[in-house]
Amino acid sequence: MNTDPTQQTATGWWTEAAIYQIYPRSFADSNGDGIGDLPGITARLDHLVELGVDAVWLSPFYPSPQADAGYDVADYRDVDPLFGTLADADKLIAEARSRGLRVIVDLVPNHTSSAHRWFQEALAAAPGSAQRSRYIFRDGLGPAGDQPPNDWQSVFGGPAWTRTVDPDGQPGQWYLHLFDTGQPDLNWDNPEVHEEFLDVLRFWLDRGVDGFRVDVAHGLIKQANLPDWQEPQEILSGNEIDKPRPPMWDQEGVHEIYRQWRQVLDSYPGERVLVAEAWVEPAERLARYVRPDEMHQAFNFEYLLAAWTAPAQYAVITRSLEATDSVGAPTTWVLSNHDVVRHASRLGLAVGGGRPNGIGIGDPQPDAALGLRRARAATLLMLALPGSAYLFQGEELGLPEHTTMPDEARQDPTWARSGHTQRGRDGCRVPIPWEADAPSYGFGPTDASWLPQPPSWAEYALDRQRDVPGSTYELYRAALRLRRAHGLGRGTLEWLSSGDETLAFRNGDVTVLTNFGEAPVPVPPNAEVLATSAPLTEGTIPTDVTVYLRG
Ligand code: NOJ
Ligand code: CA
Repeated sequence: MNTDPTQQTATGWWTEAAIYQIYPRSFADSNGDGIGDLPGITARLDHLVELGVDAVWLSPFYPSPQADAGYDVADYRDVDPLFGTLADADKLIAEARSRGLRVIVDLVPNHTSSAHRWFQEALAAAPGSAQRSRYIFRDGLGPAGDQPPNDWQSVFGGPAWTRTVDPDGQPGQWYLHLFDTGQPDLNWDNPEVHEEFLDVLRFWLDRGVDGFRVDVAHGLIKQANLPDWQEPQEILSGNEIDKPRPPMWDQEGVHEIYRQWRQVLDSYPGERVLVAEAWVEPAERLARYVRPDEMHQAFNFEYLLAAWTAPAQYAVITRSLEATDSVGAPTTWVLSNHDVVRHASRLGLAVGGGRPNGIGIGDPQPDAALGLRRARAATLLMLALPGSAYLFQGEELGLPEHTTMPDEARQDPTWARSGHTQRGRDGCRVPIPWEADAPSYGFGPTDASWLPQPPSWAEYALDRQRDVPGSTYELYRAALRLRRAHGLGRGTLEWLSSGDETLAFRNGDVTVLTNFGEAPVPVPPNAEVLATSAPLTEGTIPTDVTVYLRG
């Protein structure tokens, strides 16, 4: 499908990898304080080998006041005591490597924590100082300077500006934070900021990491003069190619930064990678982040957001492949992460009903059985697509969102900042269940869990699913095994049918068929069923089921 014959197609482990996202707070707790940690992860690495993934991506574990669960970094070169020590990070990397697992760490360059030394120095320094020019400080509007410098809103709700208090106690300048007040945006027009992050890259590359997932990669450069933007704030850049782009997202200047970073990564042995978290639409714009001299991959959020219908899935898969082919990069696929409602619940909501930012008590509840059935079908389909696939911890257990979490337990800043209108992301971040009958379902040695685990989660525990035919865990293992054995990640997709009710494509010697319609679809005669997301009925593929076939 490569549309440009002069374009080299990328090769390397990452082009076809299955990459498992670990959210350290919620994966495994070694010391019983209710918060997952690095030694906990190291102790559970064999699970990932048994599952059959190629790499892990770790969400932030750096020193942080945890205003946004660690995406507010106070020191980019250390580990928060909550999660362990730098020695624990080294051990984790070494133990992963000895098992053949690659390790990607999270890099948060759009903003620091307000507790970062730089921001503290900026607060103590005068307007116009070198210390302040590492961030985006401005005088307020109006005679008293008590109006924010522009109308931008924070992604978490409320204004994107906070006024500072000068050392003499008088109200001072304002600073920009596209996210929480505890996450001041850095000024990427300042060369010192560039130097600092080049050094941070080297720090972790020297420790042996295989790459970086780059947080808010589309946000670093803001349009000059920070013009007002009347539209409601979203982390998305705009969904039509000719629509005006918001002045805070997807500005041209970000690409030069990633070209520089790419040179640093390329100067290291091995295949080190950059993965963009860029909420950029459409796919043609996103593809600009993965041109040959920029990042290696970008998360395909358009795929994650696509409706569960044959035409919508056909369109997004086709568009994604065409867009990345045009720049010689592999496509990526993702259905869940720590920022969205888990797909086992999302797909149990009415089709086309929009994208809820969290689900809580009093909200329309997903149909759990339908959601899981569709999630299994969606995952089986996804794992047969060429390119690399990202999995979020717990989805291999079929974990749903915690949709009845008491509001008092919520910790996502979104809930408070949106004036309690958006519940936010806690429901997908609940510590995961390992053993049905252990305290905290084996998450840690005690009952402590930083977010409450629902009482129904025993049934999802790993030890209830291991070696159980038909369990979601065994389905993931089988799919990952087949993906590897048949080279699906490095294969080529050839559509066989794309109707309103079914989708079918061939990838190498595997035919993949998903039935979205109401009528059962007969398995073609002589076809061998390699995998199915739910039992077949009398030789037919029921509704919301994906099968892998051969012959
Ligand atoms: C994207 C991260 O995935 C999310 O969890 C975080 O809140 C924002 N970036 C801000 O860093
Ligand atoms: Ca702990």
